[in-house]
Amino acid sequence: MAKTAILELDGKKHALPVVVGSEGEVGVDITSLRRDAGAITLDDGYANTGSCSSAITFIDGEKGILRYRGIPIEELAENSTFVETACLLIYGKLPTRKQLANFSDLLTKNEMLHEDMKYHFEGFPPSAHPMAILSSMINASSCFQPGLLEGYNPEKFDLQAARLMSKVRTIAAFAYRKSLGLPAIYPKPTYKYSANFLHMMFSEPYQDYDLKPEVVKALDLIFLLHADHEQNCSTSTVRMIASSRSNLFACAAGGVCALWGPLHGGANQAVIEMLESIHREGDDGTRFIAQAKDKSNNKRLMGFGHRVYKNYDPRARIIKAQCDKILKVMKISDPLLDIAQKLEEIALKDDYFISRKLYPNVDFYSGIIMRAIGIPVDMFTVIFAIGRMPGWIANYKEVMDEATTRIYRPRQIYTGPTLTHYVPIGERK
Ligand code: ACO
Repeated sequence: MAKTAILELDGKKHALPVVVGSEGEVGVDITSLRRDAGAITLDDGYANTGSCSSAITFIDGEKGILRYRGIPIEELAENSTFVETACLLIYGKLPTRKQLANFSDLLTKNEMLHEDMKYHFEGFPPSAHPMAILSSMINASSCFQPGLLEGYNPEKFDLQAARLMSKVRTIAAFAYRKSLGLPAIYPKPTYKYSANFLHMMFSEPYQDYDLKPEVVKALDLIFLLHADHEQNCSTSTVRMIASSRSNLFACAAGGVCALWGPLHGGANQAVIEMLESIHREGDDGTRFIAQAKDKSNNKRLMGFGHRVYKNYDPRARIIKAQCDKILKVMKISDPLLDIAQKLEEIALKDDYFISRKLYPNVDFYSGIIMRAIGIPVDMFTVIFAIGRMPGWIANYKEVMDEATTRIYRPRQIYTGPTLTHYVPIGERK
């Protein structure tokens, strides 16, 4: 591979260094282009821009490969847990038994919210979207942590990371209970991460939720599969905020906002709403597929397509198998699953989807599992946010650990008016 790429602009040649990643990915380093040639690169939506070098997650979208710290997602889904995978992402390698126990202890010790935070929950109307509550409360909880604003300290990072991961789960469950006008259920230190979340969501003060191991496993798997996905919209947002040296909680609150949109984390909610509407209209999916292909309306087949995967999303395959399993265990027959399967079957044979390389993504089946567990639709993206937390933490840490990180500050090509002058209000037309 050549070590430099040559760019010719206005008859002048500029040599640009070529960077090659550990999996052979090639990048042309344009850092000096503006200084040397007076030009920037333009890449709408950053679709072909590497914003950083990262050692956390590898994706080959053409082949449908996803690896955390080199380990295939299929192996982690089969053998690991969400908390162990979080350690892998954050610290760079699988934890020893002792390291895992220490991190789990830290999660348990930090699972409670400051009692005064109860008053913040009371300020939200019952109709508040849980993502709005989640983002606000993550930011608010930073106010209850002396030392957080002192800046990044690698010595204290374990505690900060565990606090964020643990408190996010408690905030999410409290937000759900608040939306239903139900009393908050406090965490149980004897429960592991996912079981504790289900307990805080579904137990009542007079009766503990019946924790089925299969349900706990399914939720843990959903968290694990969402744990990181390299430079997606929310993770890039987290890195962007981190680059200004904001604290971890502020970065995570920003990540939640970025994740909320229906083209990103909000897609799992949009999938279920789409399936429900297809079901209500008595369609088996055929009519909807025709609408999704028709450019005269803005309908899309939600849960299909991905900026990076131009092949089956490996997470979708794992989730689909888990979906069949959990519905069987819970003895649920969900007509939405039949519609989803029919949509997939039609789309995978349809030239519109084939030619554009549109395949099911992780959101296509995850909503059906969450519905079966009893998680309401507007909590779906919150579940995604809890799962994505280790990825955001790992990316935050990577930014902070870099000796030379500069503030992220993209350029633009200005297309507005050229010099115009201020007109006093009385003279304007
Ligand atoms: N249904 C119908 N057509 C689609 C779909 C879809 N789900 N996705 C893309 N297309 C079409 C576009 O209309 C476009 O067609 P054209 O070339 O004729 O104009 C072509 O495929 C390329 O689409 P883009 O929007 O340019 O692709 P992009 O990479 O920008 O978008 C995205 C990716 C946002 C995921 C898109 O596929 C989409 O909107 N999917 C549905 C929403 C969704 O499931 N999001 C979850 C993503 S996964 C995640 O965030 C965890």
